[in-house]
Amino acid sequence: MRLTAAGHPGGTRRDMELRGIAYLGLDVPDVAAWTTFGTDVVGFMPARSRPAGAADDTVLLKAAERQWRVALHPAAAGGLRYAGCETGSEAGFAAAVEHLGREGATFRHGDEAELAARGVRGLVALTDPSGVQVELTWGPVYDGGLVSPVGVPRFVAGELGFGHYVVLPPDLDASADFYVRVLGFRLSDDVVIAPGMSLQFLRCTPRHHTVAIGGFGPVSGLHHVAFEVDDIDQVGYALDRATRAGHPITASLGRHRNDRMLSFYLRSPAGFEVEIGCGGRLVDERTRIEN
Ligand code: FE2
Repeated sequence: MRLTAAGHPGGTRRDMELRGIAYLGLDVPDVAAWTTFGTDVVGFMPARSRPAGAADDTVLLKAAERQWRVALHPAAAGGLRYAGCETGSEAGFAAAVEHLGREGATFRHGDEAELAARGVRGLVALTDPSGVQVELTWGPVYDGGLVSPVGVPRFVAGELGFGHYVVLPPDLDASADFYVRVLGFRLSDDVVIAPGMSLQFLRCTPRHHTVAIGGFGPVSGLHHVAFEVDDIDQVGYALDRATRAGHPITASLGRHRNDRMLSFYLRSPAGFEVEIGCGGRLVDERTRIEN
């Protein structure tokens, strides 16, 4: 059920109902190295088919039924070039575009070349205050299930979207305004890690967070992207693969206090970190969150 402004005292934001991450476009200095990392450590497979407009130098990785979920783009430095956010349907897409107009957001419609490159039916693009291009989309392509090179990891996606990302923007307030007012995310919690270091966890589905934004002093950019699997054994196997391949483990296995995800972090070949975990908490919108 779509909540309307009239049915939600929080104002107009609930007319924007994003369905989580559709896909991630990563900047990576060494595409071959990240491809090997993505397949042999994380467990994705090279895309079985490609959108007609995908650039030749772009590697696409598949995680489940959808044609692709992660795009690797050659770049001088690692980072998050774009994040596709799912609107779920043509009607949901239209409602999202209407909402952006009402909020006075700066956005543009994707042209034919961009739609062809992503393999989607509709796309509007905005730029978040940390420089990430956020693309609201609908109409993905499906081409069969994952046949992982490392066995049978099952990535959690579907109605929860595909994982999460954490960015450290130069202006935390501007980023919070962008994600909450403009894109309709809700604050799950706000965690102070140390004086001057905090993270705001934002959700747009029952997944505890799809985006987190942090103030870490002068540090900025992409901190990590997270991929969730549906079974604790898969997390352990991934940790084994990462260790065997010699990737630095930047945070060993543990359970987060806020979203209860059991995960570990490793440094990817592009510099930013990747989190692999399971058991992330779901938030019931009708109940107050207790930590
Ligand atoms: Fe995370």
